[in-house]
Amino acid sequence: MVKNAVLIVIAGFAISISVSAVGSLTTPTSGYDAKKAEETFTRYCTGCHNAERSLRTLKGEANWKYAIERMAFQYKLLFGEPIPQQAQRVILEYLIQNAGKE
Ligand code: HEC
Repeated sequence: MVKNAVLIVIAGFAISISVSAVGSLTTPTSGYDAKKAEETFTRYCTGCHNAERSLRTLKGEANWKYAIERMAFQYKLLFGEPIPQQAQRVILEYLIQNAGKE
């Protein structure tokens, strides 16, 4: 319960701050490894909510970038370290390929 309340506060904060960072990611054009991408996604994106939360959503690339930046901001607040840029790019590609299919 307390954890949920903290997350909601963090989430509101993240939305107000992270808008300026939108658009700083670029999609990798080569070297995409589906298995590694899934591991990266699982490592960084399933600590606060399950994978389903992300994968049931259908978004375009721009909206995914925005969502990942928001989540990365929350991740840093909670865990004290950033999601590396390279990992964010891999997660972006992973979501574009795998989310919203069901
Ligand atoms: C530090 C905790 C935390 C981590 C780590 C986290 N999330 Fe979230 N996520 C939240 C919270 C809290 C919400 C609900 C509030 C919101 O939407 O910001 C949420 C909501 C979402 C949503 C639904 C809202 C939307 O924008 O469509 C998606 C999709 C999502 N997360 C994807 C991800 C992805 C992808 C990652 C990995 C890069 C990730 N999350 C990592 C806490 C987290």
